[in-house]
Amino acid sequence: MRRASRTRLRRIILIGVIGLGIWFLWHYQPLPVGGNSTNSSDEEVQVDSAEHFARTLKISVRVVKNFWEESSKHIREVTISNPGKIAFPATRWEIYFTQIYIPELGDLSNSGIEVEHIQGQLYKFVPSPDFQPIPAGGSLNFLYKSNGNSVVFTDTFPNWYLVYKDSKPLVLESTRGDPAKFAMIQDTPEAWKFESFSKSSEFDSHNPPSSADRFIRDSTQDLLHDPIPIIPTPLEVAGFNKQVRLNMHHGSWVIIGDPVFRKEMEFLAQAWQLRISASQPRSHYIHFFKQKNPLRYPKDLNYEVYNLDVSPSNNIITIVAYKAVGAFYAVQSLFALRDEEGELPSITIRDAPRFRYRGLMLDIARNFQSKGTIIRLIHLMAMYKLNKLHLHLSDDEGWRIEIPGLEELTSIGGQRCHDLTEGECLLPFLGSGPNKTNSGSGFLTVGDYKEILSYAVKNHVEVIPEIDVPGHAHAAVVAMKKRYIRTGSDKYLLTEPNDSSNYKSIQGFTDNVINPCLNSTYTFLQKVISEIYNMHKGISNLSTFHFGGDEVPGSAWSSSPACQPLFEQDVSLKVYFLDRLSKILASLNLDIAAWEDGFKETDRINIQREMLHQKNVYSYSWKNPPHMNLLKSAYSMANMGYKVVLASATNLYLDHCQEPDPAERGLVWATRFVSDKRSFSFSPLNLYSSTNVDIRGHYVEACEEDPMDCPKLEKVENVEGMEAVLFGELLTSVDILDYMLLPRLLAVAERAWHEAKWEVLPRGEQRMALLESDWTKFTNTLGYRELPRLDRFGYHYRIPPPGAIHNADRTMMLVNVTYPGQQVEISRNGGRGWAAMLSTKTKINPGEKIMLRTKVGTRTSRAILFNPQRSLSVEG
Ligand SMILES: *[C@@H]1O[C@H](CO)[C@@H](O)[C@H](O)[C@H]1NC(C)=O
Ligand SMILES: *[C@@H]1O[C@H](CO)[C@@H](O)[C@H](O)[C@H]1NC(C)=O
Ligand SMILES: *[C@@H]1O[C@H](CO)[C@@H](O)[C@H](O)[C@H]1NC(C)=O
Ligand SMILES: *[C@@H]1O[C@H](CO)[C@@H](O)[C@H](O)[C@H]1NC(C)=O
Ligand SMILES: *[C@@H]1O[C@H](CO)[C@@H](O)[C@H](O)[C@H]1NC(C)=O
Ligand SMILES: *[C@@H]1O[C@H](CO)[C@@H](O)[C@H](O)[C@H]1NC(C)=O
Repeated sequence: MRRASRTRLRRIILIGVIGLGIWFLWHYQPLPVGGNSTNSSDEEVQVDSAEHFARTLKISVRVVKNFWEESSKHIREVTISNPGKIAFPATRWEIYFTQIYIPELGDLSNSGIEVEHIQGQLYKFVPSPDFQPIPAGGSLNFLYKSNGNSVVFTDTFPNWYLVYKDSKPLVLESTRGDPAKFAMIQDTPEAWKFESFSKSSEFDSHNPPSSADRFIRDSTQDLLHDPIPIIPTPLEVAGFNKQVRLNMHHGSWVIIGDPVFRKEMEFLAQAWQLRISASQPRSHYIHFFKQKNPLRYPKDLNYEVYNLDVSPSNNIITIVAYKAVGAFYAVQSLFALRDEEGELPSITIRDAPRFRYRGLMLDIARNFQSKGTIIRLIHLMAMYKLNKLHLHLSDDEGWRIEIPGLEELTSIGGQRCHDLTEGECLLPFLGSGPNKTNSGSGFLTVGDYKEILSYAVKNHVEVIPEIDVPGHAHAAVVAMKKRYIRTGSDKYLLTEPNDSSNYKSIQGFTDNVINPCLNSTYTFLQKVISEIYNMHKGISNLSTFHFGGDEVPGSAWSSSPACQPLFEQDVSLKVYFLDRLSKILASLNLDIAAWEDGFKETDRINIQREMLHQKNVYSYSWKNPPHMNLLKSAYSMANMGYKVVLASATNLYLDHCQEPDPAERGLVWATRFVSDKRSFSFSPLNLYSSTNVDIRGHYVEACEEDPMDCPKLEKVENVEGMEAVLFGELLTSVDILDYMLLPRLLAVAERAWHEAKWEVLPRGEQRMALLESDWTKFTNTLGYRELPRLDRFGYHYRIPPPGAIHNADRTMMLVNVTYPGQQVEISRNGGRGWAAMLSTKTKINPGEKIMLRTKVGTRTSRAILFNPQRSLSVEG
């Protein structure tokens, strides 16, 4: 507490000094009388209550500009309107809100409003003594400055809530659920562009794409069919003939084969309602063969190899596999080949993946995702032959797995609500609102986790649990403090009461690091790891434990009494922590994994691989954005003997926006956008040719300044694979999760399984031509087959808005879509009525205001204006 108030005081003084730069607007603005807004409140008597104000106050938020005399700041404007019949008073209220960009604290220059930091990214507005009531029918707007640039509407988090007098906290209804309700889309270049970074005078080249930009970007040829038989693309395909077809509805089909594949045969039998037969009929059967020696494949990929032959001429399907997983992938390929009428084309496939590790990281800590949602994702992963589910189970904002014997982790750390002492729950971070029924609350019970494991085993997906330590651990720190208070025992305590270190994590936490100098820290880790180990036993043995290891704030532990002896011996705490954790894991025969910073002393110094006690050490490389100006360490770590999983933020972080439009949901810290094409064009073995567009949209030669920054990959065998990364700040519903994940996940799956010819080529025309040709096949296959398939399973992938230009004499409009086959709808009356476009062209009148959207089933893309002017200066 002492620590927090000292920080606040310093900040207030600081603002006093530099406060000149910020100025303030606030005035009353009578609203038009007789609007709809007062309709429902007309009939009732209005009383001065929390309920009344929560229901009637209207909040709206706007980014004014990202440009500022100081670097990397932006100004927001908040408007609070009071359409009710009683004034919003001058005292005894607080409005809580989340912001990922740190606002300037203190009295906002005589505005009558102060901002206070609570914890993490939670803040509140409170009235200062100067605050004047907002009269009935009046409104207040005020400006404030925050760190960072805010170029997308989802930077505003929903569920602002009011604490009024002694009432329970209530969500301000106008902010409930989604920022789309009250955050205005950045609508000027000053608001939608990043300011220039100090290193370069170059301007942010991104603008919201116009319909012409989208048309040019998406002018891939419509092939009118799905040219790739299976996604991800198989290693070798022969005899593929869509005209020669086999029909599963004709004849009575059975499954026969080697009993080592019993589970895979049953899996197929269940899906297609077939019988497993002991005897071989003359035809109409699917035969599973066990192969003894898959010699023709790279040795360590042997186990996933399969051959598949669909032969319409004699009505026989043959699967040859070396291991069960190969048989399983043959079955998945059959699922992909079969159309809705039960027909399969003639085809012969030899297939094996390029990488052992083909993953998806899902963060269920920032927002919780249920067992059902996770199982649904495993199903999706199996469809596209992804085999590693990296589950981010803990973070500052939540602990999501039951650990028997440490109830506080989930009873407190797994819930969020308005409890300023965090005695009952964590604070309502990330816009989760004041009560416990929210997307930020929940956890997997031991039973849930085991069910997930069982489902994953059936689908040949390995679950890699991550507990993020020593940083990102606010939930655990709070929970174990409460346990200490309840039990009086410091057995599992993660922090010292007398540690006065003063730090703030990148996400604004002042108490989110566990102390590596306490023995109780390791008692805790031993306990947690053993319990997770036990959950895996008998279902799928735990083989790798991921300890996170990322983003530990610099001055954590500096004043820890327990750490002083280690400082005196000049021991690196990082190395000390790693050594003790590594020994715990070694005692359970577990491999160790972490984000790359977990194995680094500093951004430029990797820890020696040899100091870890494991056979395999997995480093997850994410810090590749050019503006981070760091050693591009993925290959240097591979060369040092680490097994590297590529999680390059610029291409694989699917929590980022999908196009540089302020109306497009997502994060932007690594790069302005991660389009499906950027994921598709990722080149794992030629990194520096595929990850060199900076956040402002300019190409940078990653290795120009210092070639040492870009080491050559010498030990290609240590590139274990790659994964799509989905952090959970914005994942407040399953629909949003689907939107962020799909269809980009298919592009990641394609790269993780199939090595394309262009990948190893340097940037240039040849690479571009081959890439474009592959991209055309891929988008056509998505549009004509895979997306409709996802529709049938109810996965709500993102539907991109269409593109449109006009012809030379401006009499016709031409439209285009990203995924050929999707339907465009047009509105000529401002979006009130929509009609399907039956052709890609239509007559237009000069100056006519036309809106467009893409339609799939009952779902549509965002509606856009027809705007034939180009604005974009960077490719998709
Ligand atoms: C006004 O109130 C009536 C009665 O509650 C309701 O039916 C109507 O939809 C409301 N109109 C608006 C614009 O909110
Ligand atoms: C998009 O436009 C280009 C150029 O007019 C055309 O060749 C292509 O077939 C169109 N694609 C789709 C999917 O409509
Ligand atoms: C808690 O919040 C949820 C979601 O906003 C809402 O549906 C529910 O009614 C609230 N419960 C209480 C007790 O206020
Ligand atoms: C914390 O510091 C106080 C005063 O310096 C001391 O009396 C107390 O024993 C310390 N507590 C712990 C747990 O070290
Ligand atoms: C902490 O553990 C270390 C290593 O097991 C041991 O040497 C040390 O005595 C312990 N310290 C305390 C205070 O128990
Ligand atoms: C799982 O681990 C246990 C030891 O805990 C071992 O006996 C068993 O063989 C392992 N199972 C598999 C499938 O590796």
